[in-house]
Amino acid sequence: MAGRPWVLVSALLLLLSGSRGHIYPLSDEPGPGRVFDGIGGLSGGGATSRLLVNYAEPYRSQILDYLFKPNFGASLHILKVEIGGDAQTTDGTEASHMHYENDQNYFRGYEWWLMKEAKKRNPDIILMGLPWAFPGWVGNGKNWPYDFPDITAAYVVNWILGAKTYHDLDIRFVGIWNERQYDVKYIKLLRYTLDKSGLKRVGIVASDNLWEPISLSLLRDAELSAAVDVIGAHYPGTTTVPQALKTGKKLWASEDYSTFNQEEGGGCWARILNQNYVNGHMTSTISWNLVASYYEDLPFGRCGLMTAQEPWSGNYVVSSPIWISAHTTQFAQPGWTYLQTVGHLEKGGSYVALTDGNGNLTVVIETMTHEHSACIRPPLLPYNLTAQNATFQLKGSFASVPELQVWRSRFNFKTKKPSLFQKLPPLKLVDGSLTLSLAEDEVYTLTTITSGRRGSYPEPPPSARFPKLYKDDFDLRNPPFSEPPNLADQTGVFEYFLNLSDPGPHVRTLRQVVTQRPVTWVADADQTITVIGDHQWKDLTVSCDVFMEAAQTGGVFVAARVDQGGGLVRRAKGVFFWVFSNGDFKVTSDLAGQTVLTEGQSGTGAFSWVTLTLVVKGQTASGFLDGKPLWNHTALLAPPSGWTALGTRSFELAQFDNFAVAAE
Ligand SMILES: *[C@@H]1O[C@H](CO)[C@@H](O)[C@H](O)[C@H]1NC(C)=O
Ligand SMILES: *[C@@H]1O[C@H](CO)[C@@H](O)[C@H](O)[C@H]1NC(C)=O
Ligand SMILES: *[C@@H]1O[C@H](CO)[C@@H](O)[C@H](O)[C@H]1NC(C)=O
Ligand SMILES: *[C@@H]1O[C@H](CO)[C@@H](O)[C@H](O)[C@H]1NC(C)=O
Ligand SMILES: *[C@@H]1O[C@H](CO)[C@@H](O)[C@H](O)[C@H]1NC(C)=O
Repeated sequence: MAGRPWVLVSALLLLLSGSRGHIYPLSDEPGPGRVFDGIGGLSGGGATSRLLVNYAEPYRSQILDYLFKPNFGASLHILKVEIGGDAQTTDGTEASHMHYENDQNYFRGYEWWLMKEAKKRNPDIILMGLPWAFPGWVGNGKNWPYDFPDITAAYVVNWILGAKTYHDLDIRFVGIWNERQYDVKYIKLLRYTLDKSGLKRVGIVASDNLWEPISLSLLRDAELSAAVDVIGAHYPGTTTVPQALKTGKKLWASEDYSTFNQEEGGGCWARILNQNYVNGHMTSTISWNLVASYYEDLPFGRCGLMTAQEPWSGNYVVSSPIWISAHTTQFAQPGWTYLQTVGHLEKGGSYVALTDGNGNLTVVIETMTHEHSACIRPPLLPYNLTAQNATFQLKGSFASVPELQVWRSRFNFKTKKPSLFQKLPPLKLVDGSLTLSLAEDEVYTLTTITSGRRGSYPEPPPSARFPKLYKDDFDLRNPPFSEPPNLADQTGVFEYFLNLSDPGPHVRTLRQVVTQRPVTWVADADQTITVIGDHQWKDLTVSCDVFMEAAQTGGVFVAARVDQGGGLVRRAKGVFFWVFSNGDFKVTSDLAGQTVLTEGQSGTGAFSWVTLTLVVKGQTASGFLDGKPLWNHTALLAPPSGWTALGTRSFELAQFDNFAVAAE
C-alpha cells in the first residue's frame, strides 16, 4: 500500500472499500473482446405465456413493463418466440399459422401480440422465432420435417413474412428445429428461401441443441457455414467446445436457465449471465422461459423470469431473475463489446466488463455460491467461495473515469429476504481504482451509465385460487386472441369458431381444429385435450354442449380430475365421459380410453348438439345427457384431484359451447 494514500470519504465508502484485495485490471488496451448480443426471454416451447394474455389491465401492462420496458425491470434485449406447430411443446400446444396446407392465418395465438407489446416498449427489441413442431401436412404424414425441405422452408418463411405484413414485426433470427436433428440440405435451403424472399437480414441460428455436431458440420462445409450466423446451444453449463470457437461464429446460450424462480433462480441467472461469457465466450443468454404464465402443475412450474399465472386474481410475482437481469440489461446494450479483461475472482465468483466504445464502461460482478446458484445444469465444481476484497484498476480509455454508479443485489438464503437491485451512492475512483468488499451471494454493477432505474408498481391483488364457479359461452371474444381465456390446450388446438349459418344459439362456439397428427416434439396424445381450472379440484359438476363433426368415427368428452399435461399428457388420468357419433358412450379413467369404468348406448350422432354433464363426488360419478341420467359409477379409479377438460377421440373437428363448472 506504500505510496498510495487511501482516503475513505464516507461511512458508506468505508463499508464498500476495504483494504486492497486482489487487483483486477479493466482495460481496452488489449483490444476488444466479443460483441455483446443481448439478454433475452423465450415465450413458448410451449404455451408458457398462455395465461398472461388473459390478465385484466392494468396488471397485464405492468407485467409487460417489468419484462420489456427499458430502465424499469428486466429491460430485455431479445424476445424469442415459438413458431406454433399445433403440437405439445412442454406446457401446451401453440397454434400454427398454417393448420392446413392451403390455410394461412397470422392472427392465431398470442405470440404476435406479445412481440408487438415488447416492441412498443423497446423499439430495438431483437425478435427471434423457432419451431418446436410442425403441422402434420408439413411432414406429409411422417413425424419428420426434412423429407420435403422446400415445404418446411416455405412454411417457416411464411411466418416471418406474415410477421412483417400483418404486424410490422421484423424477425431478426430464425432457428431450425428445437433440440432435434438438423439437416444440412434444409439449412441451406432455408437460407436460400430467406434470401429469395427479401429476408437477407434474417440470421439463422443453428441448431438449438448441443455444440456438436453442428460445430463440426460448419467447419467441414463452407456453404453451410455461410448460411449460419450463430451457433445456439442449450443449457451449455457455461462452457463451450474448441470446435465451436474454431468456427468463428457468434456463440449463444439460445436457451438456458429453466429454474424455479424463487431466490435460487436469481442465483442461477446471475452466475450464468456472467460465466456464459467468462467460461464459454457466449455473447447472448436467453431464459426459458420468459414468464411463468401457465398452470403451475404443468411441467416446470414457475421456471420463468417472473410469475404471472393467475389472470383470474390479477396477482403476479416479480421474481429475483427480473432484478438480476437488470444488472446487465439496463447498463449494456446489444452492439457493445466485452473487454478482454474478464474472469474469475480469486476467492470465487466472476466479473465481466463491457463498453460502448464511446467511453462508457459497465462491470458486473457476481459471487454466487455453489449451492445457491444451481441451475438445471449446476456448476461443475464447488468453488469454495469466501468473502473477499477485490480491487478494480481502470486503465486505457477508462483510466480517468471519475466515478461509477453502483447497483447491488444481496441474496440471503436464510431469511429469504433478499435486497435486490438497490442503488448505492456512486463510488469515486482513486488513481483509477476502487475496492469492493464482496460477501457471498452478491451481484454488483459498476457503471458510467446513469439511467438505471428500479421500476415499481403498487402491489398487485392477492393470490387466489381459480374461481369455483366458472362458465364460458365463447360468445364474448377477447378481440386480439383466437383462443378463449384459461383453456390450456395439451394436444390439438381449440379456437373460437363462428358459424354464421347457424340459426340458433351456436353461432359462436369453441372448435378443435387439428385434423392430422402433427410432426410432434414430445409424445402428444392420440386424442385432443384442453384443460382448465384448479388442479386441486376434487368434487364438482362440469357440463358442456358438444357437437361432433366426424360421422361414425367421431367422439368427444368432458372430464374432471385430469392429473397431468405437458409431455406426459398421453398418460393423463381422470374421469372422462365420452360420447361417440356411432351412438355409444363410455366412461374411462384415462385419456387413452383404455380403462373403461362403464359404457353403453347414448344415441348420439354427428352434426347435432347435445349437453354432457359430469358429476364427480368422492368415489362416485354420474353422467347426464341433455339433463337426463345416463350412467352412475360408484368405485372411481381416478386421481384424487385435477383440472377439468374437454377434448376429442382423435384429431378431428368438433365443437363445444356453454362450458360450465361448479366446484365444491
Ligand atoms: C477487506 O477490507 C476490510 C477493510 O480494510 C477488512 O476489515 C477486511 O478484513 C478485508 N476482508 C478480507 C476478506 O480480506
Ligand atoms: C455514455 O453513454 C451516454 C448515454 O448513452 C452518452 O451520452 C455518453 O456520451 C457516453 N459516454 C460517456 C463517456 O459517458
Ligand atoms: C473446493 O473444495 C473441494 C474440497 O476441498 C475441492 O475438491 C474442489 O476442487 C474445490 N473447488 C475449487 C474450484 O477449487
Ligand atoms: C353451421 O350451422 C348449420 C346450421 O345449424 C349446420 O348445419 C352446420 O353443420 C354448421 N357447420 C359447422 C361447421 O358447424
Ligand atoms: C343414478 O343414481 C341416482 C341416485 O341413486 C338415480 O336417481 C339415477 O336414476 C341413477 N341413474 C342411472 C342412469 O342409473
